[in-house]
Amino acid sequence: MPTMTSAKPIEVPAIESVRKRLEAVGQGHLLNFYDELDAESRRSLLAQIASIDMESLPGLIRAYVHQKPEFALPESVAPAQYYPLAETKTGRTWDREHFRAKGQSLIRVGKVAAFVVAGGQGSRLGYEGPKGCFPAGAVTGKPLFAIFAEALLGARDRYGVDIPWYIMTSPLNHAQTVSYFEANGHFGLKPANVMFFQQGMMPTLDIKSGKVLMAGKGEVATNPDGHGGSLRALWQSSAIEDMKRRGVEIISYFQVDNPIVNVVDPVFIGLHATAPDSSAQMSSKMVSKRDAAEKVGVFCCHGAGRHVGRVEVIEYSDLPGELAEQRMHDGSLRFCAGSIAVHVLGVKFVEELNRNTAGTGFALPFHRAEKKVACIDPETGSAVTPSANNAVKLEAFVFDALPLCEKSIVLETDRVEEFAPIKNASGVDSAESSSRIQTQRAARWLESLGVELPRDGSGAPDCTLEVSPRTATNADELASAAAGRLPKRVERGQRLAL
Ligand code: UD1
Repeated sequence: MPTMTSAKPIEVPAIESVRKRLEAVGQGHLLNFYDELDAESRRSLLAQIASIDMESLPGLIRAYVHQKPEFALPESVAPAQYYPLAETKTGRTWDREHFRAKGQSLIRVGKVAAFVVAGGQGSRLGYEGPKGCFPAGAVTGKPLFAIFAEALLGARDRYGVDIPWYIMTSPLNHAQTVSYFEANGHFGLKPANVMFFQQGMMPTLDIKSGKVLMAGKGEVATNPDGHGGSLRALWQSSAIEDMKRRGVEIISYFQVDNPIVNVVDPVFIGLHATAPDSSAQMSSKMVSKRDAAEKVGVFCCHGAGRHVGRVEVIEYSDLPGELAEQRMHDGSLRFCAGSIAVHVLGVKFVEELNRNTAGTGFALPFHRAEKKVACIDPETGSAVTPSANNAVKLEAFVFDALPLCEKSIVLETDRVEEFAPIKNASGVDSAESSSRIQTQRAARWLESLGVELPRDGSGAPDCTLEVSPRTATNADELASAAAGRLPKRVERGQRLAL
């Protein structure tokens, strides 16, 4: 199975030149215990140091540790235009079936690949291990990776083409992810069509001094560089080269946490590739925000200035309260377009981003997160278990590439049809809420096909339902896939997987 490397092999330089380089940027402490290390640990520490862009650190520390960068609201910020779900909603009419047909033909001729960012761990879920291995099927308990594989098998059945799948891991979970696929026979996919590569890492910085933290005497503390790192990792790992060799031009991007994501959506792909207001660089999906306070990024656009008309996601924490609360005449939120972190990217766009800067890579802005990180004291070598935030992690966000696009479209989708993320151990966005949404969606589809369903006092389905994306990704597909084998009714408390 192809496992792509994230960067060229690193040559280990001589200790004296490393010491000089580190001292020049105020990070000499990383070699404080060098003399105590055995030969292998010395090599590994030097290799780790060589993989870090030390020269950029003083600037980053000034910008993100010694100060908290202020978010600058775009000039005359306005809500982004979008292709609405119900064509009457915004007065914008568009021909969904036209774009579906366009997307379907692009998929059929092999121009589309799937790409999941799966560098994160399941720690917020209280789950040890790669998040993609987390059991997510409402009835079957199938892991997220198995569900996405079924979506690709379903697409193969529907379009008669193998869709290559690129999986971005991080050093935290790469080996485990790859062996999980091997142990499970790649969930029925051809191993040659499943590519794994690792994202980049950033050094984790001390919150007060900006010095790089040490995870051990021979180990630098690092953190994954955010899903924004995927745009560089796609290039450095040769995934883009591999896509071009296969004739792939379009990347369907999704996060690992959403079991009902439409992995290959022909309407979205058709709009991205052929809509007159799309430059086919990067497109996005949104859902209508549940309420003003919902913690999702919001699609906005620049109303004036150099980037007038360009789309941008503003994180909920950066959107001023008075804008978040603004209402339209009908009472709906003016800034209503919540990001579900589903995008389509042009292969050419990713290639150009990386090529434009003569091999040094392009830079998305970093975002600063304050965290508690276990480390060692760089003077004494003793272990430090912090009780308050002691570290700054720097991460890039993929949606910060949107303002780099000439024209970028946003497509509205229905929350129940496509968004049931599993992020937390309980409550909002948990396995339980996801299972409820999976059931709600399947209930809608079944009822539209005449199946009787039990409902409780609040109107919620009184059963548990799961439809594999191999069977169907919408009610019409369910009608043809399950013709003749649908029950007339579902019993109270029944668990049904289709
Ligand atoms: C994210 C979005 C939010 C959006 C929501 C929708 C950000 C900052 N926020 O929030 O606007 O409304 O999803 O579900 O992204 N990942 C990596 N490598 C990394 C970091 C993350 O692969 O270095 C992957 C994770 O595995 C996961 C995804 O990116 O698949 C999301 O990361 P996470 O940090 O969980 O973002 P959210 O807080 O869920």
